[in-house]
Amino acid sequence: MITGNRLNAKQGINQMDRREFITGMLASGALVAAADLPIPAAEPSCLPFPCKTPRSYISLGYHHIHIGLPQPFSVLHISDTHLALTAEADPPDKVAFAKRRNEGFGGNQARALANSLAWAKDNADYVIHTGDLIDFQTVGNLDFVRKCFGAEKGTLAAAMGNHEYQRRQDGEKPKPTFDYNALSEKTLAEAFPFDINLQSTVVHGVNFVTMSQVYGLVSEAQVERFRAERAKGLPIVLCMHVPFTTEHIRRAVSKFWGRSKKFRSAAAPKLHGDALRQETDPVTCAFVADLRKEPLLKGILAGHLHFDVQDRFSPTAIEYVVGGNFLYHGQEILFT
Ligand SMILES: [Fe+2]
Repeated sequence: MITGNRLNAKQGINQMDRREFITGMLASGALVAAADLPIPAAEPSCLPFPCKTPRSYISLGYHHIHIGLPQPFSVLHISDTHLALTAEADPPDKVAFAKRRNEGFGGNQARALANSLAWAKDNADYVIHTGDLIDFQTVGNLDFVRKCFGAEKGTLAAAMGNHEYQRRQDGEKPKPTFDYNALSEKTLAEAFPFDINLQSTVVHGVNFVTMSQVYGLVSEAQVERFRAERAKGLPIVLCMHVPFTTEHIRRAVSKFWGRSKKFRSAAAPKLHGDALRQETDPVTCAFVADLRKEPLLKGILAGHLHFDVQDRFSPTAIEYVVGGNFLYHGQEILFT
């Protein structure tokens, strides 16, 4: 437990607190044992409104995945924190961009993450983060990640988000391709000490498979590795950033992110972006079709959309998309 940890109004967590906080916070990876989490204290004056119990300062949804386990446990699932931290070594253009991003996300991302983890320590068994923990690559953000995971190198797992791959250097525009992601492979592999492409973490007999799926696309290498996970014969919960599209999810995406302000039709929106890539890439199409027939699949946890939505993916699995953690949001999932 951290003592004397304080959140400041500007960054949420100062340099010293951040190091202590993260070392304890993510010591077990994306699937973090909640009992190991520190409890960061919050300055009451920093909270957006008076709150006598800052630890409960989180907005939660609840879900239940029944597998037939001998012992129940729960997971706090969070995603899309979009931290935009900078350090002295970051160039002025990145510092300026981070400032704009912090304004866009409210500037309380670090506090939202801290509060989520503080809540999880007392109320859940594990924590999983499904990507966009950082908004783009800065020295400050990657240093933060390194301190998060570095203490227990090799024992951690997390799902990358599309923003983890965003370098934002020299005017470079992010591209939704494996080739663009490959430019960051070395940097991210050094900061996140686990396999960023696919990682398996088994807890209570459930295989949590975290996979880097950030544009609706699955690679042939990931398909092969997922096949090996199925061969273990354990119930699988697939954790990734971008949800696999369904008609209901596509309708919600169109409503939330599109120009239309009110529902005027229940027709399935046209495919575009991540959904179009998923539905037209042969490797991904075959993987998804196969996954829908996989009885070991018990659930999919995803993020990216910044709002809550759920839909049935297969006869044995519902896909649960969690809203943005930058808005103090998460969902607790009970496994029985
Ligand atoms: Fe995202």
